Amino acid sequence: MRIMRAAFASRFDDADPLAALTVGEQPEPSLPDDDWVTVRVTASSLNHHDLWSLRGVGLRPEQLPMILGCDAVGIDPDGNAMVVYPVVPTPGDPRGMSILSEHFPGTLAERVAVPRSNLLPLPADLAATDAACLPTAWLTAWRMLTARGRVEEADAVLVQGAGGGVATAAVALAAAMGKRVYATSRHPAKRERIVQLGATAVEPGARLPERVDVVIETVGAATFDHSLKSAAPGARIVVSGATAGHEPQVNLRRVFAMQLEILGTSMGTPGELADLLAFCAERGVRPVVDSVVPFSRVEDAFARLHSGDAFGKVVVDHTA
Ligand SMILES: NC(=O)c1ccc[n+]([C@@H]2O[C@H](COP(=O)([O-])OP(=O)(O)OC[C@H]3O[C@@H](n4cnc5c(N)ncnc54)[C@H](OP(=O)(O)O)[C@@H]3O)[C@@H](O)[C@H]2O)c1
Repeated sequence: MRIMRAAFASRFDDADPLAALTVGEQPEPSLPDDDWVTVRVTASSLNHHDLWSLRGVGLRPEQLPMILGCDAVGIDPDGNAMVVYPVVPTPGDPRGMSILSEHFPGTLAERVAVPRSNLLPLPADLAATDAACLPTAWLTAWRMLTARGRVEEADAVLVQGAGGGVATAAVALAAAMGKRVYATSRHPAKRERIVQLGATAVEPGARLPERVDVVIETVGAATFDHSLKSAAPGARIVVSGATAGHEPQVNLRRVFAMQLEILGTSMGTPGELADLLAFCAERGVRPVVDSVVPFSRVEDAFARLHSGDAFGKVVVDHTA
């Protein structure tokens, strides 16, 4: 059995997720089927999902140790640089699928195993560290805006919790699509930075100058009432996360009187990831990168994400 270095959940700690993180040796992932291949990871990025895993959300104790990480760019067995699509078929999971690091070992390692069909060519003009931001947070934001939010019918978009990976993606993409974008953040410094991405920044809960047609909601309980109040008649409130609580109070009168659609979504399809890669390559849109941390300091990357101070994606360079 080949051994490799990896960052993994060795236990769960809801109060202090960083204490549940271990960096050390793990067996190289096995190939569950003939069509799976092993990819040498060159870049990955962190998601809030990794903190949920360390807290024990979505994992059972018998699945430990679990290598973390959903996103990767790497080198396939033929020597090609590829972007890894992180959703894998998973018989036995009620969804019929799972994201890397839920049932199968994740990307925060020297190598990751995936079905060959999960690999998309890395566009020539996209850096590996940029492309490593796209398969989870950016893909989720892309689908929230396009297939779910029908942003092509929209004039204005509200993004809650502007500093997050999904949120910065949604702002950058909606602005590149020519929409009027509003973004909330608790932090004045993050509000200043989101303006540079093309958004009008507002304080959480503040009244917007207009009602919006699409709301990008990943924060949950802390912002959901504001999302409802900011929505124009027929607006789509698209939910892909609930960082600040998943049981908000919902004013149903507003939902039916304004004929709102509240839509759940998760990740996206391989075709949508291909569309996103092409959009970024062709339109010159690049992920918002908070920091690039060498794998040798991957604990620092987790601490940065956990601090809540990050603006955009925390990337891990596996070649450093
Ligand atoms: N379903 C899917 O496929 C999918 C995919 C990706 C992510 N997600 C989920 O989406 C959420 C965001 O993920 P991410 O990776 O973008 O996370 P992240 O980078 O850690 O961002 C979280 C953002 O939420 C805001 N926030 C956190 N606590 C808040 C509070 N109490 N009140 C107001 N705002 C708060 C913060 O915005 P400010 O600091 O600017 O206020 C923060 O920047 C997570 O829950 C994640 O699990 C789901």
